[in-house]
Amino acid sequence: MSYWWPFRSRYLPLTFGKRAILLFAFLSCLIIIWYFGCNSHPICKRDKLARNDGSTPCIVLWWTNIGAEKMTFDDILCGYNTCAVTSNRKYLPQAKAILFYASSLNWHDLPLPRQPEQIWALLHEESPRNVLEFLFEETLQHFNYTSTFSRYSDFPLTINALPNITEITNPKYVVTIGRKNVARNNLAPILFLQSDCSTMSGRTNYVEELMQYIPIDSYGSCLNNRQMPDSLQTDFLNKLYTEEMYRFIGQYKFMISIENGVCEDYITEKYWRPLIAGTVPIYFGSPSIRDWEPYNHSTIYITDYQSPKELAKYILELDRNDSEYVKYLQHKYNQIMPITNQRLIEEFYVRTEETMFFTKFACQVLQALWAQSAKTKMANRLHYNCPLPLPYPAMERPPTEIHSWNSLLKRANCMAKSIDELLHINRAFTETELHDLTNAKIENELC
Ligand SMILES: *[C@@H]1O[C@H](CO)[C@@H](O)[C@H](O)[C@H]1NC(C)=O
Ligand SMILES: *[C@@H]1O[C@H](CO)[C@@H](O)[C@H](O)[C@H]1NC(C)=O
Ligand SMILES: *[C@@H]1O[C@H](CO)[C@@H](O)[C@H](O)[C@H]1NC(C)=O
Ligand SMILES: *[C@@H]1O[C@H](CO)[C@@H](O)[C@H](O)[C@H]1NC(C)=O
Repeated sequence: MSYWWPFRSRYLPLTFGKRAILLFAFLSCLIIIWYFGCNSHPICKRDKLARNDGSTPCIVLWWTNIGAEKMTFDDILCGYNTCAVTSNRKYLPQAKAILFYASSLNWHDLPLPRQPEQIWALLHEESPRNVLEFLFEETLQHFNYTSTFSRYSDFPLTINALPNITEITNPKYVVTIGRKNVARNNLAPILFLQSDCSTMSGRTNYVEELMQYIPIDSYGSCLNNRQMPDSLQTDFLNKLYTEEMYRFIGQYKFMISIENGVCEDYITEKYWRPLIAGTVPIYFGSPSIRDWEPYNHSTIYITDYQSPKELAKYILELDRNDSEYVKYLQHKYNQIMPITNQRLIEEFYVRTEETMFFTKFACQVLQALWAQSAKTKMANRLHYNCPLPLPYPAMERPPTEIHSWNSLLKRANCMAKSIDELLHINRAFTETELHDLTNAKIENELC
């Protein structure tokens, strides 16, 4: 007795042969419906356009270490296609795309020789100073796709450090101007909270000069002159985005917001946190930061002032003038149009979310690849747009850090040229080979 057969019934006894014919007819119908139905349906059409061509298996290889998100051979769904993402290097020959996380990339450990059809893609959301060689097009051009802070990268991460655009207008953390004025009895007007003291942007030097003209409370290890409240001090790093932290920042009228590197669109939490807390950022970093400010009077730009002394003078005036000061907090007090910057609003709603960071990137690369119309796609200087020589804010004395950063950059420049040469030879090279070539270039002033 075969109870699984749906057409079986007492009234319609069927032989095995008839059952088989019925089943065949039923399946044929299904195929015909699927074929014709699908060709006219927009979803199926799109599916065909975006589909992996099928001639090669769809495998993506993470070449560099990506920490906790380690992948054995995981299926991911990109659009309508399933692909495998792995960090197991034995799949190198079959991999369609090879992905690199810049912070854990070793130049002498690249998948060489490179197969001509293999795509290289680079992910880097961190500070440019972690891998200085990327400041040069000689290295960047070897990657077909990138995801960096730059708006010109293929999958920009420009405003990823902003937890949520609604936080900028959230009145929850706001310390009223009256209470800020009371707090001023034992607090300086400006807050400085930084423990990374040697930066390409000369941050510590600038703040040190500014301190000569206006009081600054410094809680981090750079220029420290105050202690954090105990409740914030313990487990500090996990409290960076907590309400307690925002309220702490919010007591201050101004906060130093100087990035550690100066690159177009390199914007970190140093900019967003004071804005969220209702404290005015004193900003130096991305030269085009105005493209991302919530509205055009929300930030004090260091580059607008000829010297720390001039800046201090202006801030002292604002500190005494509530009606002028409060104009910087429109995002908290203007109920009708708190954020006027449409670019910021639009970018927030299309940005890459932090969840599944590495998987998402794999998918983005694959989809771009399937949609790629031009024959070749290469990253360029704009994907990592950091002006050289290093720009510094206007200061009275040249920053002490400038020499060491310049010599590091000089070396990185020579190294980028060497990497380019070795990649063109297209065979594996050792660390010693790369260093010898770099040193030879430095000695002979070839870069
Ligand atoms: C941002 O905040 C709003 C409201 O507070 C919330 O509805 C939304 O889900 C949040 N978005 C993200 C990406 O967290
Ligand atoms: C700032 O924006 C307002 C309107 O939103 C405009 O009237 C004003 O000219 C802008 N100021 C600057 C400096 O762009
Ligand atoms: C604040 O600044 C405005 C504009 O410069 C000025 O008209 C006003 O008198 C100032 N108020 C105080 C208290 O200094
Ligand atoms: C990928 O980049 C390499 C190196 O720049 C280039 O030679 C190759 O043509 C690019 N491939 C595609 C498919 O764009």
